Amino acid sequence: MTATVLAACAGLIFCGGIWAVGILGCTAARKRYRLRPRSPLATAAPTSAPGVSILRPLKGLDTNLYENLESTFAQEYPNFEILLSAADENDQALPVARELIAKYPQVNCRILVGEEVVGVNPKVNNLIRSYREAAHDILWVIDSNVTVHSGTLARSVDALVGPPNATKRIALVHHVPFAVVTENKIGSRIEEAFLNTNHAKMYIAINTAAVDSCVMGKSNLYRRSDLERVNGSLKPIPPNGVQPGPCGLQAFGRFLAEDNMIAGALWHELGDRHDLSCDVARNIVGNMSLSDYILRRARWIRVRKHMVLAPTLVEPFTESVVLSLILSWSLKTLFGISPWISIVAHFAAWIYVDLDVYASLAGHPLPAEQRWSFMAAWAARELLALPIFLFAIFGSEVIWRGRRYTILRNGEVARAEQSRSWFQRLRQPKNYDPINTEL
Ligand SMILES: *[C@@H]1O[C@H](CO)[C@@H](O)[C@H](O)[C@H]1NC(C)=O
Ligand SMILES: *[C@@H]1O[C@H](CO)[C@@H](O)[C@H](O)[C@H]1NC(C)=O
Ligand SMILES: *[C@@H]1O[C@H](CO)[C@@H](O)[C@H](O)[C@H]1NC(C)=O
Ligand SMILES: *[C@@H]1O[C@H](CO)[C@@H](O)[C@H](O)[C@H]1NC(C)=O
Repeated sequence: MTATVLAACAGLIFCGGIWAVGILGCTAARKRYRLRPRSPLATAAPTSAPGVSILRPLKGLDTNLYENLESTFAQEYPNFEILLSAADENDQALPVARELIAKYPQVNCRILVGEEVVGVNPKVNNLIRSYREAAHDILWVIDSNVTVHSGTLARSVDALVGPPNATKRIALVHHVPFAVVTENKIGSRIEEAFLNTNHAKMYIAINTAAVDSCVMGKSNLYRRSDLERVNGSLKPIPPNGVQPGPCGLQAFGRFLAEDNMIAGALWHELGDRHDLSCDVARNIVGNMSLSDYILRRARWIRVRKHMVLAPTLVEPFTESVVLSLILSWSLKTLFGISPWISIVAHFAAWIYVDLDVYASLAGHPLPAEQRWSFMAAWAARELLALPIFLFAIFGSEVIWRGRRYTILRNGEVARAEQSRSWFQRLRQPKNYDPINTEL
């Protein structure tokens, strides 16, 4: 056997592995999301349902904010409270919040205004007071641009409590994001095509295989008593032990991707597992231009690079375009199959799997009138994946909600220095915070 043949065999095995992951995601999505039964907790007596505090950090007028917040007021669950928090008392989200409180007087809801600075992460600074003042142990932290179905909370508590004789304790329940586009902008369309197909497929596959923590923090349930025992070091602690130093939410203010780190800490420090409920976090994507999309993806690649380097470096090889080249070359070398045949077959099967994942999450196949625009956005996403990866991997700065950060080791962040390239100055958002508000 020559080295070429060996390389072709390795290529074929690698492609088979990635395809297996994709098919795992697709079948798991079918099983989990096509049937969403009602939980008995939805109509239980208040005393028999575990209490839940719903924490929603607010910042500005997100697209669809009213409907997003209303979806939490409308949860069919007998025992919950809502804590809405904003850093600034002039925040435009507050009138919307007050309007909803007036509309739902029977729901126990409070507004907390004013942040407490415990780290560089503004979301943690905004949440910390709600976190302390929450009346219940189970917290549901949900972004302001997310809408959920009214049965979500009951089903998620079921998943968090778990079956009575489960082998692994569940410390966190999360929801796979499903993008909903309200504005016909190119970046929004690409984001939609990405989140609802490839991203969901991989997210569900990784969480089904449960090899490691993989959580996007749009909508997470966990227990405050668990978070109070971990400090973000990812070092295991003995059962019932507590980490030294600061623990709890404030210990995560030093990370940009605090939700990701919280999930990792519960997994590695406590040795617990995560679960998905059969609900999706409908993520309302507002106006997003092509460059917004690119910078957003680059931001997460840069954050991930510092947290999990190896999987991030493998990522481009799992994308359809690079994979199709490896596959066609391997098949040509080993069996003399024309690359055109294998590339066309590969993409046809890939699209079939992606659209099947979409149908599982959406509850219906891709609507006919969206077919061409969706597939065009899908193709753009696949073609852009490698260039964005290369752009992102060489760099450590990110812009997040109008502020610039440098990512340090382990995903910790610092506010960036003043020096800005022409490109960043060009991209400076309107609500940009001058650096003299440095912590
Ligand atoms: C868990 O316990 C129930 C009865 O309490 C039993 O029917 C079921 O088979 C058990 N499951 C496992 C995985 O042991
Ligand atoms: C977290 O706990 C670990 C020990 O498990 C310790 O080494 C580390 O210093 C702690 N981190 C902080 C920030 O206190
Ligand atoms: C949704 O809100 C979160 C935090 O509040 C933010 O990080 C994210 O960029 C928003 N997503 C979109 C699509 O606007
Ligand atoms: C999005 O942009 C369009 C114009 O391009 C504007 O009419 C619309 O109000 C914007 N929507 C939001 C939610 O900002």
